[in-house]
Amino acid sequence: MTTVDIGTLQDYVHGAAVQVRRGDRVLVVVRIDQDVYVLDDRCSHEDFSLAEGEVDVTTCEIECARHGAMFQLKDGQPASFPATRPVTHYDVVVEGGRLQVVVS
Ligand code: FES
Repeated sequence: MTTVDIGTLQDYVHGAAVQVRRGDRVLVVVRIDQDVYVLDDRCSHEDFSLAEGEVDVTTCEIECARHGAMFQLKDGQPASFPATRPVTHYDVVVEGGRLQVVVS
C-alpha cells in the first residue's frame, strides 16, 4: 500500500474544497464533519479543477464550477450531467493522527 500524507483533520475546514499537490498528483480534499474525502482534482467532463466548486454537505457532493456537474465525494461517481464518467476517488486512512491517502 502506497500512501501520501495530506496532514491532519484540523488542517481542513468543514465543507470547504482544498487543492492539495503532492509530487505530480493534484488532489481535491473535502472535509465533512469528521470525514475526509479525496478525489483527483480534475473534472471528468473537461480539464477543470473541482477545488474551484462548491460542496453540498447534505448530499456529500461537489459541484464543478465550470458547467455544474455534481460528483459524489464518497466514490467519485457523477451525480449529474454533463459529466458521465467518474473522477478517481482515493481512500483515506488515519495513522498516528495523520491523514494518509491510499494511492496504490
Ligand atoms: S468541466 Fe466540469 S462540468 Fe464541464
